[in-house]
Amino acid sequence: MEKDAARKRLRQLREKIDEQNYHYYVMDKPLISDADFDALVCELAEIEREFPDLISPDSPTQRVGGQPREGFATVVHRLPMLSLENALNIGELRNFVSRAMKLVPEAQLEFVVELKVDGLAVSLQYEAGLFVRGATRGDGEVGEDITHNLRTVKSIPLRLRKPVTLEARGEVYLPRSSFLALNEERSLQNQPLFANPRNAAAGSLRQLDPQVASSRNLEVVVYGLGYSPELQPHSHSAALNSLKDLGLRVSSQTVVLRQLEEVVSYCESWRVKRAALPYEIDGLVIKINDLSLQKRLGNTAKSPRWAIAYKFPAVQAQTKVLGITVQVGRIGTLTPIAELEPVLLAGTVVKRASLHNEDILREKDVRSGDYVIVRKAGEIIPEVVAVVKSRRTGAEVPFIMPEFCPVCGAQAGRLPGEVALRCLNPFCPAQVAERIVHFASRSAMDIKHLGPALTEQLLSAGLIADIADIYALAGKKAELLALERKAEKSVEDLLSAIEKSKEQPLWRLLYGLGIRFVGERTARLLSAHFGSMDKLISASPAELEAVEEVGAKISASISEFFALDSSKELVARLRSAGLKMAEEKENSTEKPLYGKTFVLTGTLAACSREEATALILAAGGRVSSSVSKNTHYLVAGEKPGSKLQKAEKLRVSILEEQALIALLAKGK
Ligand code: IVH
Repeated sequence: MEKDAARKRLRQLREKIDEQNYHYYVMDKPLISDADFDALVCELAEIEREFPDLISPDSPTQRVGGQPREGFATVVHRLPMLSLENALNIGELRNFVSRAMKLVPEAQLEFVVELKVDGLAVSLQYEAGLFVRGATRGDGEVGEDITHNLRTVKSIPLRLRKPVTLEARGEVYLPRSSFLALNEERSLQNQPLFANPRNAAAGSLRQLDPQVASSRNLEVVVYGLGYSPELQPHSHSAALNSLKDLGLRVSSQTVVLRQLEEVVSYCESWRVKRAALPYEIDGLVIKINDLSLQKRLGNTAKSPRWAIAYKFPAVQAQTKVLGITVQVGRIGTLTPIAELEPVLLAGTVVKRASLHNEDILREKDVRSGDYVIVRKAGEIIPEVVAVVKSRRTGAEVPFIMPEFCPVCGAQAGRLPGEVALRCLNPFCPAQVAERIVHFASRSAMDIKHLGPALTEQLLSAGLIADIADIYALAGKKAELLALERKAEKSVEDLLSAIEKSKEQPLWRLLYGLGIRFVGERTARLLSAHFGSMDKLISASPAELEAVEEVGAKISASISEFFALDSSKELVARLRSAGLKMAEEKENSTEKPLYGKTFVLTGTLAACSREEATALILAAGGRVSSSVSKNTHYLVAGEKPGSKLQKAEKLRVSILEEQALIALLAKGK
């Protein structure tokens, strides 16, 4: 090919490719097939190979170019990149609007509502239409130059559709599916996993080698105009339209609304709809549309007074139920579990969700094959919120709870007054396994390395059959080493973790035994009250009920547990293995908070409530859940509830968190 012909063809090809990219990424409507598109890029690359001096920096083949960087240069933002104030509920959103209305009383406000995509904020600078620099937000004034990585993001045009100079601002993110695939691949290669798509996006953009970002399927959505000497729109929505016309990808979900009530219901509608999006959002952004009003409202130190982020309360996602199985718990409870198509929820991959029990399963009418909304209840256990009935095809299969335990085949039944179906065989292998896993878990005896998989292995190899057998493993080193893929080091680690667990305090052992209704907190209270296993075992129901928060139900459960021969034997074996059966010999009357009863309310800043409780107990104090005239101190965190009023009425001393910390420190 002659050079002139090549030059001409290259220009045609680049224009065609840019045009197709625009339809694909910005308009979301590809005009040609992927194969046809690839053919254009192939032809272009071929000609460029023949005539390397005709390669231009904005050529579609130049997204990854050059050598990895030595480090990041800094970019000073011509206009600061502000962040947003959050509205955590609809009330706070209304307050934002009323504040703005007071500041510009005569104006009829118009709101632009956008999705708040969870990724990394970037600034994209174009000069005469060419992408010249891209940067992170950094501290808002100075960011890092990540041009080399942003060039690899296919939805960022290397050249605008007109030769304008402007700075666009937006979010680079990783779609859920790419995030899942990336972590899958990393787990196969034994590389650390990314906690969530946001971290994965940020991690990809902060690489010196652009090959990494290039392999990651990053996408961009542009949500605003930065420094722009040539564009002078009157409204934010007009700015977004211009950005779109220039070839930048803006969200198709943005709306312009006039009434506050419309804004509220639009925001609320996304609480559920968000689950169906291919990427994660953590809220919506509400902006006042008129740019002259924005200017009048101005900014506070960190954020504009003309925009606010409305953040969602709970995290939900939509996925498909692949099947329903039944799990046997440590006291035999049969729990229906939805086996899910893996889905990303608040940064973790969810594959299963509890359906709780038969009644709830029926009420929600979850069937195999259904699409469901899952959410993390209390951020820990995922659960199915509801079935998306509109997506039913008729092929979904209802589930019937089994009459027999799916693991040991024993008859299942209900104890009087309970909704849960149980396997009635206490020696059911599933129950045994669950009991061991619970005993070894972090919140109980904290035996590292002894999780569900190893427990399963040890049980089926016959190396353990119950909790006490764990402490006989030290004498079975050869058998352990013979276990599939067990290296010397991992066996040593396991044995030393087991040995270390013998030093765990009594409350952990009590909790680890898995007595019904004896949770972590009750175990601590029991341990503090009785001081030893023997005293607890011999306590009468009345003595048990003298313990704070222990009522007839818990007391009966403790008595029943210790009345069993199997429990007595278990305790005896654990005792001879050398586990602690008594509280540390500390004279609790000498502890700084001895005899003082505390009640906690509101959110604490420095530690969780559980941690605060542990600290108070350790200092000899007591913690109760309700305020009474016997309460010595109410510890009030952020947003205290009605307990504060009650404490004030009863003239209970009120401590702020700092005061509690000071009190605890005094005894040290
Ligand atoms: S506007 C001055 N719009 O949220 C306005 N931000 O907390 C600044 N974000 O740093 C940002 N989607 O990373 C805006 N539609 C959107 C957004 C958005 C996501 C991010 C952005 C920003 C953070 C603010």
